[in-house]
Amino acid sequence: MNLDQTHKNLEEESNLHSSSDFEKNRYLVIRGAISTDLAEFIYTYFANKRLVAKALIDNKIIAANNEYFGNWTDTQIPNTYSHYSDIAMETLLQKVKPVMEKATGIKLVETYSYARIYKKGDTLHRHKDRLSCEISTTLNLGGSAWSIFLEPDSAKGGLIDGKYVAGNTAGVEIKLEPGDMLIYRGCELEHWREPYESDGCTQVFLHYNNATSPHAEENRFDRRPYLGLPSIFRKKPEPPKILENSEVVFTTSPKPTTPSTIKANNEINSPIPKSFGL
Ligand SMILES: [Fe+2]
Repeated sequence: MNLDQTHKNLEEESNLHSSSDFEKNRYLVIRGAISTDLAEFIYTYFANKRLVAKALIDNKIIAANNEYFGNWTDTQIPNTYSHYSDIAMETLLQKVKPVMEKATGIKLVETYSYARIYKKGDTLHRHKDRLSCEISTTLNLGGSAWSIFLEPDSAKGGLIDGKYVAGNTAGVEIKLEPGDMLIYRGCELEHWREPYESDGCTQVFLHYNNATSPHAEENRFDRRPYLGLPSIFRKKPEPPKILENSEVVFTTSPKPTTPSTIKANNEINSPIPKSFGL
């Protein structure tokens, strides 16, 4: 297993597709995007991490909703192990970016990774993603496969009077084996999974922004200083200037005659989101 080989596999596979396919369809499947050896390694690593997380939580060493070892508190898929920004997954996010760019024909900025080990009975309801998921992948790492569905018509599903109204279409079923990757425009195409009848499907979502989008720089690393950090490091959309004495001065106009100052720790961190709309 090595990442150079992973890149080679993905580059060879992406050569079989034209980036215009992605432009036209807004999704693309790449078989063998990473080697089965690498997929198996990460699958085993993540299964081990789940066991460690459970032991640490059960013994009250870490909080039930911690983001350092993963948790079972994501309301989108209740009681399923999930992990925002696991460092190995964030490294994968970095390493597949160049070949993602080749496959899509789009220069990308990394936003974040999110991994889950699905259990029997899980359902991923029809939804579209938040802005940090402009160009997304779901990559099968192992376990019993679970199909994902996409609605190719971007007009289906969306907000009406502030409430999400799902489409009522059959969509396209995508079956991924370990190492296979689906690339899709998560903010535009509704996607979902039907109730899972097996157990243990391990998937990682790798999310990117189009580098030329107006919000791309703001969304870089999901508004964190760098990859691998938990969501408490996510900055607000207009981060205040941080002074050397760790105080904050608001610089948005109109400028106050006397700067308002507050402690940085209280202002640059945002609460942990309940769900990432994956
Ligand atoms: Fe999603």
